[in-house]
Amino acid sequence: MNKTALITGASSGIGYELSQIFAMEGYNLVLTARNTDKLNELKNNLENQYNVQVSIITKDLALPDSSNEIYNEVVNKDIIIDVLVNNAGLGDFGLFHESDIDKVNNIIELNINSLTKMTRLFLPDMLKRKDGKILNIASLGSFQPGPLMAVYYASKAYVLSFSEAVSRELKNTGVTVTAVCPGPTNTEFNKKANFGTSGFIFNKHSASAKSVAVFSYKKMKKGKAVAVPGFFNKIASVGVRLLPKRIVRNMVYWLQKKRSK
Ligand SMILES: NC(=O)c1ccc[n+]([C@@H]2O[C@H](COP(=O)([O-])OP(=O)(O)OC[C@H]3O[C@@H](n4cnc5c(N)ncnc54)[C@H](OP(=O)(O)O)[C@@H]3O)[C@@H](O)[C@H]2O)c1
Repeated sequence: MNKTALITGASSGIGYELSQIFAMEGYNLVLTARNTDKLNELKNNLENQYNVQVSIITKDLALPDSSNEIYNEVVNKDIIIDVLVNNAGLGDFGLFHESDIDKVNNIIELNINSLTKMTRLFLPDMLKRKDGKILNIASLGSFQPGPLMAVYYASKAYVLSFSEAVSRELKNTGVTVTAVCPGPTNTEFNKKANFGTSGFIFNKHSASAKSVAVFSYKKMKKGKAVAVPGFFNKIASVGVRLLPKRIVRNMVYWLQKKRSK
């Protein structure tokens, strides 16, 4: 029988590419995001291309009850979730004291709270079956503070810390948690996070969403606790842990400023 993966933020970018890979690998899918049209189009494409069943759930995960509603909908449909992918995420570029507090709340609710609640809801069922995988999309920003994207970097530090801790708790249970920490990736993320594009020095070096998705899928299958795609990103993730924090803060501020319009 086909296994089922639930992917949040499936309507674009890394989540969209992960949906393609899981379908190609024979997984049935539960896809969530806010954009019903994009989810429907993806569902039709995947069902036509691969012999899999795709359910869609339109939900705004920045609303506090959404995780519960997704879980209840899945249980009511008698769907067993073998893999949970917490991918949906949002950033915001700019000085914290000038930020829109509603957007700040959305980032915290989406990047931290919904990921935590989804994990708490689906994990016990996986443990009962002694089988399951959780893939959390963190960021290269998880490893250091991010001036000019303070809340986003802090939220991704939470994702990494939380994922690593739970992955240790689950040792020898048959269930694994993997945190993948991508560097700059070509998706709609930048536009939504209000970066200017011309000054963004990494643009030409950004990874494709597909390559990040392929990497994430492989590391999740192996049950790796933490994985950083890309040679230079790996070096950076180690480097920032060795350098004095003052230097790292200034360096990230300088790099982030290059992203401004
Ligand atoms: N792109 C990068 O450079 C980069 C680097 C490191 C980590 N990441 C992380 O990778 C993950 C995927 O981002 P991406 O780069 O693929 O960006 P993206 O193309 O903007 O995709 C984000 C996905 O999240 C969904 N989403 C956003 N807000 C939502 C909400 N309130 N409720 C439910 N779904 C919501 C979006 O769908 P709807 O708009 O339809 O809701 C979309 O499917 C994020 O966690 C991001 O932080 C990205």
